Amino acid sequence: MNLTRLVYYSQRNPSEKLDVKELIEVCHRNNTRANLTGLLHYNGDHFLQVIEGGRAEVSAIYHRIARDIRHVNIILISCQDVRERMFPNWSMGLHEGMDGRARQIFLRYFATDDVNPETVNVDSLLDVLQDLSVELG
Ligand SMILES: Cc1cc2nc3c(=O)[nH]c(=O)nc-3n(C[C@H](O)[C@H](O)[C@H](O)COP(=O)(O)O)c2cc1C
Repeated sequence: MNLTRLVYYSQRNPSEKLDVKELIEVCHRNNTRANLTGLLHYNGDHFLQVIEGGRAEVSAIYHRIARDIRHVNIILISCQDVRERMFPNWSMGLHEGMDGRARQIFLRYFATDDVNPETVNVDSLLDVLQDLSVELG
């Protein structure tokens, strides 16, 4: 079975209530069942999420997430078949905020810590997300 990895960027919808802890619990429950793994980075304004798993499962969850009114302006950055998971131990890791350490990680791979989802290099972005997941322990 193919393994697919999808990356998107979106903006939090400030008009809708968001309980990140509750959201991650739902992710954990659903993703574990569907053998999905990944990481969600939330800096308070924007989400960056990577989801990996079977092609059909990744497609289904992406369409569900894209309809979620808690975020808007979703930009699909990448969706490709991969040989191996990058986040095998996370049903959906959460990296929240943008502290000095996170900024350092962004600056390791990018010229600035301000990611433009329209032009961002997905490989560098995945390096950032993987390093952020290491910070989670
Ligand atoms: C930024 C963002 C990321 C999300 N990621 C996931 C996810 O990885 N897995 C998941 O099941 N739901 C995710 N959701 C929630 C879904 O949109 C949806 O609310 C949820 O899957 C519904 O699950 P339920 O029918 O079990 O309540 C995400 C929502 C947002 C706003």
